[in-house]
Amino acid sequence: MRIGLVCSGGDCAGMNPATKKFVEYSLELSYEPYFIREGLEGLIEGKIEPATLKEVSGILHKGGTILQSSRSKRFFDPAFRLQAYQNLQRHSIEALVTLGGDGSFRAMEVLAKEHSLLYAGIPATIDNDIRASDYALGVDSALNVILESTDRLRDTAESFRRAFVVEVMGRGCGYLALASAIACGAEVCIIPEMGYSLQSLGARLKEELGTGKRRYVLAIVSEGAKASSEVVSWLKEEVGIETRITILGHVQRGGSPSVYDRLMGFRFMQKALDSLSLGKSGVVVLREGRVEFLSSQEASSAPASLPLDMVRLASRLMF
Ligand code: F6P
Repeated sequence: MRIGLVCSGGDCAGMNPATKKFVEYSLELSYEPYFIREGLEGLIEGKIEPATLKEVSGILHKGGTILQSSRSKRFFDPAFRLQAYQNLQRHSIEALVTLGGDGSFRAMEVLAKEHSLLYAGIPATIDNDIRASDYALGVDSALNVILESTDRLRDTAESFRRAFVVEVMGRGCGYLALASAIACGAEVCIIPEMGYSLQSLGARLKEELGTGKRRYVLAIVSEGAKASSEVVSWLKEEVGIETRITILGHVQRGGSPSVYDRLMGFRFMQKALDSLSLGKSGVVVLREGRVEFLSSQEASSAPASLPLDMVRLASRLMF
């Protein structure tokens, strides 16, 4: 069987280790691996080539994706999907592995339904917003970048008795903000999924700053909450502390994959190829520590939720 790999949507650390495993394990299973370059746009444009072991040697430590990615609006158009399928047919590719997020998996599912194609989706997005999976590649590496940054900001915040508002990525999902706020010992955490009370947080912070118990404030705000400016004004005007804002942005997406992301890249890819070899289509997920393969129906019907114990750990940073 000929099998293709495509990265779609935002790149993340962990894509390259998964790509390396794709080539090595495909060959072990006697499949012929192919690379689709530049994401779904590249699939439409026919940027498809046989994958070689040479190209994946020495890529484990590299962030991003050597295959390059794209966000394709054209893939929503059936005419371009047909073009994409014809490109796959030209190379006799019968199965596709996609590294990406929910949106990319939905696009793959449509393509697979329209034409006779096997596919496996592997969660790969720093947002950690894949419904059925507890984990997506890139999350651990992004969290380490956030933590390193907040540790640095803490040094300067303490030296100047300032507050820092740190806006982190995550789109509509607050996981990155939640996990990093807990891990870095922030005083405030604002995420789109939860309400917050600046009034009660303010009363506590003012008291702690007044008694000298606290010398600075670190507030983590998820981009999806759209609350960074509000939090800055509140800290300045209500809490009465000099405040700066740092929007971490795309720095969170880059850098060498962590140990966990490398391991998960291997584990996810192994499961994807094993499942395709059984003739199954669907999505690889991590659930309660186990790597599983779900049909896309099962995967999309799972409720989107944050780990409740983590929300509890952070509740005093919200109210
Ligand atoms: O989905 C990953 C992500 O990094 C989000 O956290 C962020 O909102 C978005 O992508 C940024 O997209 P782009 O790279 O297209 O600017």
